[in-house]
Amino acid sequence: MTKQIMTSPTEKQKMPKEKDDQIAVDESEGWPQSRFLRACYRQRTDATPIWLMRQAGRYMQEYRQLRQSYGILDIIKTPELASEVTMQPVEAFNLDAAIIFADILPPLEGMGLSLEFVKGEGPVIHNPIRSADDIQRLRTPRPEESLSFTLEAIRLVRQELDSRGIPLIGFSGAPFTLACYAIEGGSSRNYVQAKSMMMGEPEHWHQLMNKFSEVVGHYLLAQAQAGAQVLQVFDSWVGALSPADYRDRVLPYTKQAIEIASRAGVPIIHFGTNTNGMLELIRDAGGDVIGVDWRIDLDVAWKRLGSEVAIQGNLDPVALFAPWPELKKRAQRILDLAGGQPGHIFNLGHGILPTTPVDNVRRLVDFVHEYTTNRVP
Ligand code: CP3
Repeated sequence: MTKQIMTSPTEKQKMPKEKDDQIAVDESEGWPQSRFLRACYRQRTDATPIWLMRQAGRYMQEYRQLRQSYGILDIIKTPELASEVTMQPVEAFNLDAAIIFADILPPLEGMGLSLEFVKGEGPVIHNPIRSADDIQRLRTPRPEESLSFTLEAIRLVRQELDSRGIPLIGFSGAPFTLACYAIEGGSSRNYVQAKSMMMGEPEHWHQLMNKFSEVVGHYLLAQAQAGAQVLQVFDSWVGALSPADYRDRVLPYTKQAIEIASRAGVPIIHFGTNTNGMLELIRDAGGDVIGVDWRIDLDVAWKRLGSEVAIQGNLDPVALFAPWPELKKRAQRILDLAGGQPGHIFNLGHGILPTTPVDNVRRLVDFVHEYTTNRVP
């Protein structure tokens, strides 16, 4: 059998789509190119890749134990700890990707906002943005200056992952989701403050979103330069918008951030929830892979998105609480809807929940691989 020579991700534009079933060898990296990376490029894989959003976290006993000694921001800001937590789910399950342990909110600190994770309450910004002066004052530091701990954690964890052939995902919140936190001062139900600024003060909104697109774009780019092989943009709260508002007041900034990040030449996953009214717009903002939640059937979503993008999703995270036969049926349905087409990355439709039964996670990961091994569409 002749060995195929794979191009590196930075040469993806030149890369022809493959027609055969062979798993290529990436000679430059020294290990077989992973099924996760191949799926990002819509290449055929030996089985469907799977990873889980928020795969490191409280549902794992190893994580809870570490949290008894350290706060979440301590873990994020100590590269050795962040690296250790990143590896926890990779060691426990047969996952096809790792995601760097961080959060979408630390970039706000470098911009001048005061962030705290309050027990039982979630994230709190003590000095939220409320005025034109606040926007003026927001800094846009280089990520090497304000987020060096995550860049260092990426360098550390790559060493661990490379020997296992598992790629690393870097990530950032999208400009809109970050702006919501910065303006609201924390989680919110209706985003009254943020959307009021968007609707009523378009010039201020523009200045704010410009700053966020710059910070997000350069943060993503720096993560790829530090060693992240794939980048994911989380626009978790984008579903709060009408399609017209998304198109006119948010899409240009997400697009700009993704354009900056795409200079790294690594695949970009663009994820949002509640996006049924604007899936095509989400795709138009950019991304090689579009992440969808469970509120839409995977085949319907993929048809709307078209064959030029890969798709990630989309099991309801609550399905992991169901008895195994029921969970299996639901996972199988998603795989059947994907129909073995190259370019499906199995994931949840949103982050894994804190009390998820670990056994079901293990079974799900193994089932996705077993069910799809050597499957020909
Ligand atoms: O996926 C991973 O394993 C990497 C780690 C990761 C975390 N947060 C760690 C975390 C990722 C990718 C995130 C993203 C994130 N953070 C998002 C986007 C994804 C989504 O779920 O929509 C958002 C909106 C946040 C903001 C955030 N961080 C909230 C609202 C909270 C509190 C609520 C909660 O889930 O506890 C956090 C805290 C947080 N970030 C935890 C973890 C593991 C739990 C903190 C703890 O240990 O107490």
